[in-house]
Formats: sequence, structure tokens, C-alpha cells
Amino acid sequence: MKIFIDSADLKEIEKYLSWGICDGVTTNPTICLKCGVTGGTKGIKKRTIKIAKMIHPRPVSAEVTSDKVEEIISQAKEYSSWAENIAIKVTITDRQGNSLLPAIYKLVSQRVQINVTAMTTFNQAILAAKAIKAGQEKNPDRRLPDFISIFAGRISEEHGTEQAMRVLKNTREWLDFYRFQGIEIIVGSVRSRENVELWARSGAHILTIPPQVISQCLLAARTKETVAQFLGDAQKGLKMIGKLKRHV
Ligand code: E4P
Repeated sequence: MKIFIDSADLKEIEKYLSWGICDGVTTNPTICLKCGVTGGTKGIKKRTIKIAKMIHPRPVSAEVTSDKVEEIISQAKEYSSWAENIAIKVTITDRQGNSLLPAIYKLVSQRVQINVTAMTTFNQAILAAKAIKAGQEKNPDRRLPDFISIFAGRISEEHGTEQAMRVLKNTREWLDFYRFQGIEIIVGSVRSRENVELWARSGAHILTIPPQVISQCLLAARTKETVAQFLGDAQKGLKMIGKLKRHV
């Protein structure tokens, strides 16, 4: 299972790269805004290129800022020209609920790496997978996976964490049963360490985790106390060796 960092904060990304736990990065317009990315497309371009260089060859997802099919297609082509490891996030529908699958199908068929985002149901996930697969079949030599992002945290807020687990599990089972290859499930909107613990066992290929939740995952009630005990006893042991040597 891969871990993506759900952030556009360069220092945080650098930190988790140095820990050896960063397999990729996901951003969206909300994340960019929170991480101080300003200046519209220029700002997004600058930050995305920096992240892409920093994590290469791992992928960074950048989201288009339109929900109109033609604009999405032209933006996605522009974004994907910024670096070879940029996957383009496109929401499953527009703000009125109209399908954005035509853009997704067309972009995948033109070799743009896609991350279909903002999904909360099994039905949405399988439609996205079908459109991606149809696009991929137009390029059988294509190597990179495309992504389907299921927003488990948002499912939980409406229906509980177990429902989110069911959607993730069912989607993975369906992909495997029908032998869909080259499509990876990303668990999005992870909010807590309990979410990580549950959804890391869902069969999803990737968990995208915000930095503050990774920090929570590192710590447990007795870890610091245990480390302090070992270090204290190590010091005592060293002092005893010193005394013994003086007696010889
Ligand atoms: C990841 O790719 C998503 O953009 C992110 O996890 C969304 O989470 P949210 O529900 O906090 O917006």
C-alpha cells in the first residue's frame, strides 16, 4: 500500500520524503489555498512544478479549476506539460451533477494521467473506472496507472466509517474480479489515525494522508515513556561499566 501526502506544503513533503514514507502527493484548490499558494494558475504552476521535481518520479496530483468539459481538457493538457509526473485531478461531475466522464475518457485516451476525484459511492467509482479503462485501451503501451479517489472521510461524515470501508472494499473487489489493471484506488479525506488504521486494511492501493494525521500516527500513549526508560537504563549500564573498569 502506498502513502501519498495530502498537502502542498514543501517542508512537510520534504520531511516525509526523508522518512521514506512518501510515495506521491495530492493537492486540490483548497489544499493549495491552505498552504499559501496564491496567484491563480501561475501560483499553482509554480508550486506543482516544485513538488514534481522534489518527489520525481513519484506522482503529484494537481486539480483543474474548471468544471466545463472543454476547459478541463485544455487545462489538463497544459498542467500535464509542466512535468512528466503530474496526474490531473478531475471531479466525477460538475457542480450541477452533470457527468465529466467525457473529459476523463478523452484525456486518458490522449495519455494524460488522470485522478478522478470527489467520489463517495461505489457506483461513481465503477463508472470512473470504466471511462478510464476505455481511454487506456486506446493506448495499450501506456505504463502509468490512473487513479480513482474515494473520499472516505466525507462518506463517514454522512454514513459512518464502516460504510466508507464497504465502498472501498467493494470497489477493490470489483476491480480485481473484472481484472481492471492500471487503475489504483486512493482513499481521500483521511481525518484521523483511526481512519488510517481502518482504511489501510480496505484493499485500497493508496491512502493520501494530511501531515497532521501522519504526526498522530507516529505517536502512541506509551512510546515516549518507553524510549525514556531504555535511554535511562542505557546510561545506568554505561556508568556501571565505568565503575567496573576502574576496579580492574
Ligand atoms: C485528496 O486527493 C483529496 O483532495 C482530499 O483528501 C480531500 O479531502 P477533503 O474531504 O478534506 O476535502
